[in-house]
Parts: sequence; C-alpha cells; structure tokens
Amino acid sequence: MSAELKDKAARAALECVEDGMRLGIGTGSTADAFIRALGEKVAAGFRVIGVPTSERSAALCRELAIALTTLEETPELDLAIDGADEIDAALNCIKGGGGAHLREKIVASAARRFVVIADDTKLVKTLGAFPLPIEVVAFGMGATRRRLDRIAEAHGLEPAFTLRQKDGVPVRTDSGHVIFDASFGRIPDPEGLAASLDGCVGVVEHGLFLNMAERAFLAGATGVAELTADRA
Ligand code: A5P
Repeated sequence: MSAELKDKAARAALECVEDGMRLGIGTGSTADAFIRALGEKVAAGFRVIGVPTSERSAALCRELAIALTTLEETPELDLAIDGADEIDAALNCIKGGGGAHLREKIVASAARRFVVIADDTKLVKTLGAFPLPIEVVAFGMGATRRRLDRIAEAHGLEPAFTLRQKDGVPVRTDSGHVIFDASFGRIPDPEGLAASLDGCVGVVEHGLFLNMAERAFLAGATGVAELTADRA
C-alpha cells in the first residue's frame, strides 16, 4: 500500500475524531499515518488524549506532542483507530502483523467505537490468507504449540505454526511474549476458531478481531470507501 493511500485512509478516519476525545491509538504504518495527521491537528490546537497500543506508537505520539494516558487513568475510551492485516465484509479483521495485537485488542475493547483504516487490497472474502498471529507465553511454548496443533486439526486446518523470529531469535512482544504465526490459508469458521484459541492454556491473545469494528475506511485508486458493520 502506498504511503499516499495510507494517508488518505488515515485522514478520512480523522473526521471521526472530535475535540476532547479519549482515543485508542493503533500500531503499524497506517496507524503511523493517522498519528502524524492527528499530530498536525494537535499542533493547531485540537485537544485529545490517547492510549497508544505499542511502545512504537507511544514514541511517535510523544514526538508530535500528542497527550498520552493509560487505561489505568482512563479506562474508557471514546474511539479507537487502528490498521488491519485483513478485513472481511462484516469488518472482522486479522491483526498482529506488527505484533501489537494484544494491546490493540485491549485498547479497542475499552473503546465505545473501533474504526479500522487500511487500503482496499486488505479487503478479503474469507480471512486467513494472512498468517494469523497468536501471542503465547514463552514458558511452555512447546506444549502450547501441541495444543495449537490439536485445535487446528479439530477445525480442519493445517497445523502450520511458525515461531516469529528476527535475526535468528524469537521476537518478543511489548508484553514479553512470543508469537506463532498460523498459515491456515483460509479460516472458514473464525468464531469457532477464536473460541478455541480463547480457551487454550498458554495463549495470551490471537489476532482475530471479530464483531469489534463499527466502521472501516479503505483507500483505493478511486478514493476512500467507508464500510459500516451491519450488526443489529
Ligand atoms: C500491528 O500489530 C497490526 O495489527 C497492524 O495494525 C496491522 O499489521 C496493520 O499494519 P500496517 O498498517 O503497517 O499494514
């Protein structure tokens, strides 16, 4: 996705932000574009307070003088805005390509509204082509991996889990855990899989964000499409 499209999606979402709001601030290159656009408004006198979903986003917010808070000080947020790795027509997402999905899910769950920003190539019919990130506690990860194999088999999925590594060592998340990326190809029953992963000992959080986003701004060649979730 070009930087221009990321910026367009980010600026469209900025229209949802009102003066005085308590914001959840996402992680990733599209979220960075949002933080930069928000920083311009803040420099012009707009007042918001934000909870960042990663150390990386926190650092960028500080650089741009965006006021930060925590969920201890501010446990309820008005709006969370974040990128996604995949999104379907019901606005269910896969997130965590940047390894921040644990904090992203905590922050989005603390917000009354959750808005996703992305380019329209991330819109898919069925989730799962993007490897599903599963954050697990490092202790006992071999045993957790066996439980994950069994969960995948029970759902008719290939147990294709890869421990995320960088420079030959396991990547540690901001919360000190490790990540298995699950190359399922497609996930026909995301709700069922999410329920199984939620009940798996050793799993801290997975990247399925189901029934959470109320709206998505997807930038493409012909402009920014605004999708809303049809949830009665
Ligand atoms: C971070 O963990 C992710 O959930 C990101 O929000 C997601 O990967 C989107 O990132 P980009 O905007 O960089 O594609």
